[in-house]
Amino acid sequence: MEPLEYLKEQESDSLEQLKEFLRIPSVSAQSKYKEDMQKCAQWVADYLQDMDIKSEVCETGGHPLVYGEYRTSDDAPTVLIYGHYDVQPPDPLDLWKTSPFDPIEEDGYLIARGATDDKGQVFAHMKGVEAYLKTTGSIPVNVKFLIEGEEEAVSNNLDNFIKNNKEKLSADIVVVSDSAQYGIDMPAINYGLRGIAFVEVRVVGPDRDLHSGSYGGAIANPVNILCNLIGRLQDENGRITIDGFYDNVYTSTEWEKEQFAKLPFDESEYLASTGSHRLHGEKGFSTLERTATRPTLDVNGITGGYQGEGAKTIIPSWASAKITMRLVPDMTPEEICDKAEAYLQKICPDYVTLEVTKYGGCNPVQVPTDSAWLDAASCAVESVFKVKPFFTKEGGSIPIVETFKTVLGLDTLLIGFGQHDDNAHSPNERFLIKDFHRGWRTSVALFQELSKVKG
Ligand code: BES
Ligand code: MN
Ligand code: MN
Repeated sequence: MEPLEYLKEQESDSLEQLKEFLRIPSVSAQSKYKEDMQKCAQWVADYLQDMDIKSEVCETGGHPLVYGEYRTSDDAPTVLIYGHYDVQPPDPLDLWKTSPFDPIEEDGYLIARGATDDKGQVFAHMKGVEAYLKTTGSIPVNVKFLIEGEEEAVSNNLDNFIKNNKEKLSADIVVVSDSAQYGIDMPAINYGLRGIAFVEVRVVGPDRDLHSGSYGGAIANPVNILCNLIGRLQDENGRITIDGFYDNVYTSTEWEKEQFAKLPFDESEYLASTGSHRLHGEKGFSTLERTATRPTLDVNGITGGYQGEGAKTIIPSWASAKITMRLVPDMTPEEICDKAEAYLQKICPDYVTLEVTKYGGCNPVQVPTDSAWLDAASCAVESVFKVKPFFTKEGGSIPIVETFKTVLGLDTLLIGFGQHDDNAHSPNERFLIKDFHRGWRTSVALFQELSKVKG
């Protein structure tokens, strides 16, 4: 039997297996799921081991990761497949059609937390390898799996694992499927990802909440001040006002501009898909440019004062906000965290205390656009989708991709199987069953194509 026939035969079984994977609530951010993280890592390792891929669950200091290896021959290239089994918290639960960890099929979608980000995409590669091992008995390339449990938590411990296991992880190329196609039937290979910088800002005023009748007018309100500070981080043209913020911003090359110009884009359709009523962002750039090639700043959450039922008239003692900034080459999280802190301290009035906690983040990445690996990936994608992939930059971040380059010297192929409207990080996350199957077939084709590349 050929790998592609095996795949046809396995279409419905594979979906049941993916559902099993999705039923394990592997939320990395919340400690109540700690045991499920272990269970999920073990599920992945067992799955790989069952098809004779030597696998282990490795401790990292944080959530465990899964390493698996299959050696075909010394002459074949080695492909390191990276992905993550951890998922985002499922809240808000009341907006889900079903329970987030009880997958259902509806209108051609599989709906569950992790369906597209990233369990469904990782599983497509696991099945790709399986299709070879269960038919021809060997894979055309050497394969190493690195499937971690902390991607959604900025891969805090993976860097060290990679630094300590350089030999074990040595390879010729990395493959990551943790992003999106350009659209339905429009596959994409990404040549860049944005980076990210995190800060938490806390404004502290009186040493306890005060009656806003007795003290209002005398004592500054930390929530009012925090809102004012946040309001001053962007100007009316959508530009970020932090001093020096744009110092190291990379300007797109002509080739990149051409790629952007080639992308079909319907603004009203895009807008409608968000449920928002107007597009908004930095003046002077198209929507696509703004989401992929320009840095941004967003408050992810804001807290302070009374949020319970009814009214409570107080001057809250403190207020805080979690802020992230998306970075483009050649910005770094350290530089941007420092600049954000300096600017906020500069504009904050002295009658409150401002505490800025800098959490760092990850660097943006660009991968070469003229390599034989990329050509091979492009062929594999085309053989399945029957159209050439678009070359795109993505607005999201995958922290470890940069480490693959700096520590292991490896470039990464970013081949997304999902869709932008798969509701990653949102309620009703989903993955088109058709995309899962095409992802799987692409994986099979990819190993074949990569085997022909001489490193
Ligand atoms: N799979 C995403 C990254 C992604 C999103 C790539 C959209 C391409 C398009 C990944 O799981 C993710 O969510 N990353 C976080 C990283 C953060 C926690 C450091 C992100 O981008 O917010
Ligand atoms: Mn992901
Ligand atoms: Mn994610």
